[in-house]
Amino acid sequence: MTESTTSDYAPPSARIARGEIRRASVKSFGCQMNVYDSQRMADLAALEGYAEAADVENADLIVLNTCHIREKASEKIYSELGKLSELKDERRKAGRRTTLVVAGCLAQAEGAEILRRQPAVDVVVGPQSYHRLPQLLREAQVRSGVIDTDFPAEDKFSRLPPSSREAIARRGAAAFVTVQEGCDKFCSFCVVPYTRGAEASRPVGAILEEIGRLAGAGVREVTLIGQNVNAYHELDSSGRPIRLSDLIRAVAAVPGIRRIRYATSHPNDMADDLVAAHRDVEALAPFLHLPVQSGSDRVLASMNRRHRVADYLDIVARARAARPDIALSSDFIVGYPGESDPEFRATLDLVAHVRFASSYAFKYSPRPGTPAAEMEGQVADAVKASRLAELQAMLEKQRQAFNRASIGRRFDVLFEKPGRREGQVIGRSPYMQAVFAEGHLSLVGAMVEVEIIAAGPNSLQGRIVSPASQ
Ligand code: SAH
Ligand code: SF4
Ligand code: F3S
Repeated sequence: MTESTTSDYAPPSARIARGEIRRASVKSFGCQMNVYDSQRMADLAALEGYAEAADVENADLIVLNTCHIREKASEKIYSELGKLSELKDERRKAGRRTTLVVAGCLAQAEGAEILRRQPAVDVVVGPQSYHRLPQLLREAQVRSGVIDTDFPAEDKFSRLPPSSREAIARRGAAAFVTVQEGCDKFCSFCVVPYTRGAEASRPVGAILEEIGRLAGAGVREVTLIGQNVNAYHELDSSGRPIRLSDLIRAVAAVPGIRRIRYATSHPNDMADDLVAAHRDVEALAPFLHLPVQSGSDRVLASMNRRHRVADYLDIVARARAARPDIALSSDFIVGYPGESDPEFRATLDLVAHVRFASSYAFKYSPRPGTPAAEMEGQVADAVKASRLAELQAMLEKQRQAFNRASIGRRFDVLFEKPGRREGQVIGRSPYMQAVFAEGHLSLVGAMVEVEIIAAGPNSLQGRIVSPASQ
């Protein structure tokens, strides 16, 4: 990486001194990893002198941080790019320059194809090289169609500027922190190993420093994120191995941090020490998002998941033994190639057996370059659609039952924003349920004990029982 300032490039301070305020809009698609990356790209843009744009029409820099996981996700982005190219044209006619950046997993997967399909795009940058965004923006001033989809050896995280106190405070009291990235598991249906690269864990010291800064600026809850977060492994300064459970314990000791979550876990890395952390670490939320994908051993084997249904059920039993109030959520794919009706029914059986608090279910989407896309026995869309509807109906019933069973319980709620009605605040329970209560706006950012008094379809109503504790 070169730290150069080309002659046509005025440094931010000079531009600000001249009273030119430029604005940036970063829009995130896809998973939590992208939300985190989008924030870091906004931090980079801020250092380049871009203020946050209230809406995309006023943005001089537009970044779409994209997802490639299912076909719909990718197509949505091309249609968004179509609209943005028109916006760019209108702004140009009004004498305003707009720089359009496509970042994220679609950028990584399609690279130059994006420029071919949408020539209005100025920069294409992948998830492992976005720390170079300032340089790429400079290059884009002198030539069109700059692409960087490298997997550089340099550590992206150590090259990213820390988020400012103001940015942290604006983003609220619950924050994501990427601790692990990439995936070596190569499930047959999934693009992530190709778009994010090999599994890598961030050093403990850097993570704790980042979380310390977040806590100092008001963050009370962190979600440690990674594509396979429970595969986290690193060494501490004395060379001792550190696993996710050790990291969780260290994060729990950071002053100000009240609640810890982690996502997403893979069943094969759900070791005893992590289960034990659910028993021992009070700040660790009693909630486990553990994708299973299917309830059929044959389908799981074809997916290259390398776990069986019985392994999954065993983890659920161990987690419930360690922490009886733990709740589970999962991801499911229906209509995977070759999935028969009885195999789909086996997924329903698993759901009935486990009982989930909430879950995501998807129709299988063939992705270019993945083994499953080439398999025989692709399932007709109508069959996928009816299976999805049946599974989603069952998952929704379980979610409602879980919410109803919350009535009368007392939860620590982290209030995040004003509620829809005046005099109300809204936040999240340990189980990610939205909870609203009558309360003063000053409660936003605080973790408060709340008794649940009613359950609606999409949120719970609570009554504050304890004074706010920061
Ligand atoms: N690393 C996580 C999640 C990865 S992507 C894991 O291992 O579970 C999030 C979810 O998207 C997956 O759990 C899976 O359910 C879904 N998904 C991934 N590829 C898909 C595809 N080709 N079609 C439909 N759903 C897919
Ligand atoms: Fe994709 Fe499987 Fe890796 Fe999850 S574990 S990111 S589903 S390849
Ligand atoms: Fe999508 Fe990439 Fe996340 S494909 S789900 S944004 S890792």
